[in-house]
Amino acid sequence: MTDRPRLAIYPGSFDPLTNGHVDIIRRGARLFDRIVVAILRNIEKQPLFSVDERMAIAREVFADLPGVEVDAFEGLLVDYARRRGATAIVRGLRAISDFEYEMQMALMNRRLHEDVETVFMMPAESYSYVSSRLVKEVFALGGDVAGLVPPLVEARLRASRLRDTPGKR
Ligand code: PNS
Repeated sequence: MTDRPRLAIYPGSFDPLTNGHVDIIRRGARLFDRIVVAILRNIEKQPLFSVDERMAIAREVFADLPGVEVDAFEGLLVDYARRRGATAIVRGLRAISDFEYEMQMALMNRRLHEDVETVFMMPAESYSYVSSRLVKEVFALGGDVAGLVPPLVEARLRASRLRDTPGKR
């Protein structure tokens, strides 16, 4: 055992950050000395929020937790994890349906970098059906996303709607 701080990477798109993500990050912050919310810079996707906006949101939401850091990365996750000297990659598992994809990623990441361990954490059951994709869809179709995302995200979503449809209140 060394006294090296235990650093975990919690990677994802976070477009937008949901209360399920927040729940996992808060739980992770209790397990690790530092947890890095690592936002993927994905040039292929049409994002709802830019990476800079997503970073600003996450920094504000976790301003009260000194063990939480927010960063962005591109390229292979394992290369980023290696550069950061991470002990673990944290991923949330909501349901069995997440399992197959997550297992493939975990085993591929292990093959690429066997010193970093993927750790799965379950969010509170009240968030087990919440995903960024559904939040985006529900919001785009006029549904209520209160309680599914942090209030800051809700406010930014509303602002983005006003920005995209001027004159609408
Ligand atoms: O929020 P998501 O879309 O579930 O996150 C997926 C993410 C960012 C963890 C995954 O796409 C990823 O790690 N991308 C970086 C590129 C990479 O390392 N690909 C190989 C994964 S086995």
